[in-house]
Amino acid sequence: MDITINNAKEVLKKYLKANKGKLYHSIRVAKVAKILAEKNNVSVDEAVIAALLHDIGKSMTNQEMRELCASREVTMYDFEIFQSPGALHGKAGAILFEKEFNRNSDPEKFDRIKHAISSHVAGADDKMSALDKIVYVADNIEPEKEKKNNSQETGIQKQTETLLSKIENGEIESLDDCIQIIIEGKKQRAKKREVECNPLVDNILANDDDEISL
Ligand SMILES: [Fe+2]
Ligand SMILES: [Fe+2]
Repeated sequence: MDITINNAKEVLKKYLKANKGKLYHSIRVAKVAKILAEKNNVSVDEAVIAALLHDIGKSMTNQEMRELCASREVTMYDFEIFQSPGALHGKAGAILFEKEFNRNSDPEKFDRIKHAISSHVAGADDKMSALDKIVYVADNIEPEKEKKNNSQETGIQKQTETLLSKIENGEIESLDDCIQIIIEGKKQRAKKREVECNPLVDNILANDDDEISL
């Protein structure tokens, strides 16, 4: 299958039609990703496709995800295996993307989108690209998810103004600044719920000195 928005919509439906919540979340993420891509001179086409497909791994059970990742020798960390197996849905989703789409039609585009899907949960072992960061941020600031997060929040992000509106009015100046706020919120919520926050999130901005302005 060629890597187009229309084909991505079909693949999204194929995997998530039974999970309307996740399906509509993916569409909202794509809308936010489009805005962020336009602001950052990143391909809107790639941002929308990666955002539409970022959660297709959620169509699998934890065991299926683990087995699929193991079969492709994808690196899995202790946190992903023992504490929060659902965190593998990015890596597993990237393998589903690989199965559905034809790499030969545009290998670089294929690799960029696959990496964005794989890294959207908690970053990657290598550097996050601007596309990766856009999908990560969009996933976390789409309106319904932010509303849900705010209701669980312990103190920060209590404001009614959304992160997206702060990006749009220039109050948050870079994707990295936004990622810092998102990670801080995740840690606060994990602490409140007395669960461990995925330690891999600290890799998202590691070894990254290129500030991307919004
Ligand atoms: Fe996800
Ligand atoms: Fe998501």
